[in-house]
Amino acid sequence: MTKDKIKELISQLTLQEKIDMIHGNGLFATKGVERLGIPPFITSDGPRGVRKDFENDKWKDIGLSYDYVSYLPCNSALAATWNRELAYATGKILGKEARGRGKDMILAPGINIMRSPLCGRSFEYMGEDPYLASEMVVPVVQGIEENDVSSCVKHFAVNNQETRRLDVDVEVSERALREIYLPGFEAAVKKGKAKGIMGAYNKLRGTHCCHNDYLLNDILRKEWGFKGITVSDWGGVHDTKEALMNGLDMEMSVTDNYDEYYMASPLLELIESGAVDRKTACTKIDEKVRHILYVMNELHMLDGERSASTYNDYQDKAALRQTARESVVLLKNEKNILPLDKKKVKKLLVVGENANRQHAPGGGSAEIKALYEITPLMGLHMLLGGNAEIVYQPGYFNEDVGNIWANTGDSENGQADSLNQDAEATQSSPEPEKKIKSEEKQKHQKEMNEKYQKEAIEAAKDADAVIYVGGLTHDYDTEGQDRTDMKLPYEQDRLISELLEVRPDTVVVLEAGSPVDMSAWIDGADTLIYSWYAGMEGGIALAEVIFGDVNPSGRLPETFPISERECPAVVLGEFPGGDQVHYGEDIFVGYRYYDTYDVPTAFPFGYGLSYTDFVMTGIRAEVLEDCADSKSVKVSFDISNIGRRAGATVAQIYVADKYPKVKKPAKELKAFEKLYLEPGETREVTLILENDAFTYYDEELHGFKVNAGSYMLLLAKNADEVVDVTEIEFRCSTVSCAEKVQI
Ligand code: BGC
Repeated sequence: MTKDKIKELISQLTLQEKIDMIHGNGLFATKGVERLGIPPFITSDGPRGVRKDFENDKWKDIGLSYDYVSYLPCNSALAATWNRELAYATGKILGKEARGRGKDMILAPGINIMRSPLCGRSFEYMGEDPYLASEMVVPVVQGIEENDVSSCVKHFAVNNQETRRLDVDVEVSERALREIYLPGFEAAVKKGKAKGIMGAYNKLRGTHCCHNDYLLNDILRKEWGFKGITVSDWGGVHDTKEALMNGLDMEMSVTDNYDEYYMASPLLELIESGAVDRKTACTKIDEKVRHILYVMNELHMLDGERSASTYNDYQDKAALRQTARESVVLLKNEKNILPLDKKKVKKLLVVGENANRQHAPGGGSAEIKALYEITPLMGLHMLLGGNAEIVYQPGYFNEDVGNIWANTGDSENGQADSLNQDAEATQSSPEPEKKIKSEEKQKHQKEMNEKYQKEAIEAAKDADAVIYVGGLTHDYDTEGQDRTDMKLPYEQDRLISELLEVRPDTVVVLEAGSPVDMSAWIDGADTLIYSWYAGMEGGIALAEVIFGDVNPSGRLPETFPISERECPAVVLGEFPGGDQVHYGEDIFVGYRYYDTYDVPTAFPFGYGLSYTDFVMTGIRAEVLEDCADSKSVKVSFDISNIGRRAGATVAQIYVADKYPKVKKPAKELKAFEKLYLEPGETREVTLILENDAFTYYDEELHGFKVNAGSYMLLLAKNADEVVDVTEIEFRCSTVSCAEKVQI
């Protein structure tokens, strides 16, 4: 359909019909216009797969037997693969299943920067680095949208905490906004051609992000040329006039009074009352409808030529397994305890409640009704194939359901309740009542922990090998709530320490979506594996790594600080902060802070081990372009696998300005490549760094700038381990100010 046809269609719509198209008429759908062949627009969560179906008007699971789906690795797991091809494959499965389930827009991926390890939704996001997030989000979006389905990249923007998420007002410098918090969204729009963007709940500089003129009109549309639909987060709209004027296209919410939504009857009333100029209002409404019809047209919703799709395709499981495998991060392997030898382990003790827990149904709107989920315990059984006796001990007591949203209050899902609680928490106590356990419950928890711990320690004495699988659950990694510290729950610190005392060779595995404090036992542990909520194939992938069928190649997408007390946002008292949060750490987020200010960490950004060894050396660079409007540099180096196993590593290139004229991080990630090498193989690798690799945001110029001068290119294994350095010189500076795109 041409632009003119869309124009013609708009001219045939009544004002009421247009208004019906721009707000929810169901919890996940808008109204169509049947007489003109415009269907309703159907959305669904989310980032880990297509969510189960709810009744149109209630947060009530319909209870279908056919909405079980593929459960994908969470975004932090995906980011830990540092593998763009797997990001594409994962996006493709997500889009395929969304279309297969009859959805038009999948509310994913989430890419907010991990400003603090305590943010409850870190597992839904892609770590702390804007370059890594940008590189991973683009293929995810492209994969999704190949299926005649729109992505909805969320939450735009600076949505970095759950505490007071509906109203918290973020004060952030323009430089940090541009360098840290926006690049992922910009890449999704400009390179990924994302058709959907979801506004964040919070405010930016006093205005809610869902109707923030600066974010939605100035940056998203005018600077980046976004053509698709801006959707509010559910219940994220607070003002009719702002929603009308400031760039929001579609208002969604959590209640069933659709006609009372800000962009429903109140909008009509606003126009009728003369409080806004009628002509301007109608132009704005037409614009919104045009964006919606543009996307509908791109998805072939209007021409009857939409591609069909499917879900739960068995062929997709291989990609999901591979993603889960490559997401596993080996953090410690002293004395080469790992991999374990299948032939030698005849009696295996598995300790830890997470070994036996399915995580798919938790986390908030990222919950999944998984077709199946292989737990670590099941994965170990599958892998050892009856040749070993596997004894399981929970080790600690966890009676939490793993989903703080399940069956709470009147609504069956608790999503609407969670928003009410957010609102109440803003006014009163920040601690949701349901999390405060009664003394009696705590006493019971303590007694059970002691009992389970004792049993586990006893069993550890006569096993050939002991694997501990603990970590967090979605009672901690969840929407609607931040953690208050990084401590492991359920007295796991004591259990792990005791286990290590009787069995120093215990293989320690933590499953979680964000960093935890390991200081109580880390020095005594020879092994440590970090696996995330790695999707339906996660448990078998983990078992394959432990027993060496798979050589681990995951790398941390975020720094693991020793505790939350090192995190700059926490140090400044600005996480979770008050009603207004000042991002006082500015651009010094994650390794940009720890590295620049020499703050020790538990594990640095980009860290991860392998069962083989790689040598990277000989970095050399050539300036290909040094003009006033662009830069381009060719970087090459050699890499060899000097061990006995095939494996993969991630070569990371950081850029450091040698004599910075403004304050800059010690170095910043600007290129990476995941490389698979056979034992003994050597390869030359060449990467190209473009202008973006050298810029910083100049607030006076309102643009990105590269100063002439010397830059170091650092070849590194992770943010703390630079293996080789070279230097280049730019003779001229570049300035790239935002051009306004004509829309
Ligand atoms: C979440 C979104 C989600 C939406 C719809 C909100 O509470 O913040 O990420 O897509 O609900 O379920």
